[in-house]
Amino acid sequence: MEKIRWGILSTGSIANSFVKDLQHVPDAEVVAVGSRTQESADKFADTYNIPKRYASYDALAKDADVEVIYIATPHSMHAENGIMCMRAGKAVLCEKAFTITASEAEQMIAVARKEKVFLMEALVTRHFPVIHKVLEWIKDGLIGEVRMVHANRCARGQFRQEQRHLNPELGGGSLLDVGIYVIGFASMIYGKPPVDAVGYGHVGEFGSDEQGATLLQYDNGALAVLSFALRTAAVNEAYIYGTKGHIKLPDLFAVPEKAILCVDGEDKVIFEEALVGNGLHYQVLEVHRCLRDGLLESPRMPLQESLQLMQTMDKIRAPWSFRYPNDN
Ligand SMILES: NC(=O)c1ccc[n+]([C@@H]2O[C@H](COP(=O)([O-])OP(=O)(O)OC[C@H]3O[C@@H](n4cnc5c(N)ncnc54)[C@H](OP(=O)(O)O)[C@@H]3O)[C@@H](O)[C@H]2O)c1
Repeated sequence: MEKIRWGILSTGSIANSFVKDLQHVPDAEVVAVGSRTQESADKFADTYNIPKRYASYDALAKDADVEVIYIATPHSMHAENGIMCMRAGKAVLCEKAFTITASEAEQMIAVARKEKVFLMEALVTRHFPVIHKVLEWIKDGLIGEVRMVHANRCARGQFRQEQRHLNPELGGGSLLDVGIYVIGFASMIYGKPPVDAVGYGHVGEFGSDEQGATLLQYDNGALAVLSFALRTAAVNEAYIYGTKGHIKLPDLFAVPEKAILCVDGEDKVIFEEALVGNGLHYQVLEVHRCLRDGLLESPRMPLQESLQLMQTMDKIRAPWSFRYPNDN
């Protein structure tokens, strides 16, 4: 089978993990990397034996050998980088959070449709084997009608101002960085956007939200209670409660390998499957499947849902006391 040729846009932390995990996809080949500097591009390319290395993202986008580009820049740059790549005719896998605002997401999606290129948000949790099993249990009615989702995605990190995580200039803050995981989780379980969303966020010393919590309500009265933090550690469990039973994911966001199905107060089934590598390649398998089937978006992570996730996050943070430069 002919290999699908990847370009890597930026050389930071997750870009390194991503390229390492591509080894688990036999029909993937990394042909080029683009960085803001030649030095980082060379270092990255030498480490992973990548033939072409560029000192600009633009040069990467213009490389005729590259079919699909993985965007791993800070949130504030996703829309600009994605639009540039798609206008150059490339398929794009763009890291979460998809953009900073719903308005930027609309622009990204409009360009994907105009250029007729594939675009997908890299919300990695959606592609884990354990998630497929959980969705199957729900579809088979094993816990009845889902009425409540509880999930935390919280960690205590030692971040400096210049790092992207809490830096508003780079789209930092807990909602966009890790809140997207729990909000995306609820969206996947319910298969629709909430009709209402409220939330609190604590804006810390760097001027972005260090932690927050949100309550989402769905049209049938179902709820999601979600928390997210970059400076507060918590037990990162997720629970899905239905009318007949519940499902517990003990460590969905760190070690997403186990789910427990509980019916009538008893643990009935335990699903366990060890993650391969860091688990980043599962989303690549989905990209490859879509590209080979000629799809312009993934049915598992549709563009309309990425837009709705940004709309929900816009709504949650609207009352908060800070704005991103991209909000203007
Ligand atoms: N899926 C996951 O599990 C996961 C995990 C962590 C992060 N992420 C997402 O991946 C993206 C990148 O996160 P990361 O932790 O890898 O970030 P990072 O280590 O800070 O790397 C970001 C890279 O973006 C480039 N960049 C362009 N403009 C920049 C600027 N003004 N300041 C800093 N870097 C800039 C740099 O690469 P060059 O110097 O080569 O241009 C930098 O190395 C984010 O969207 C994040 O939410 C996903």
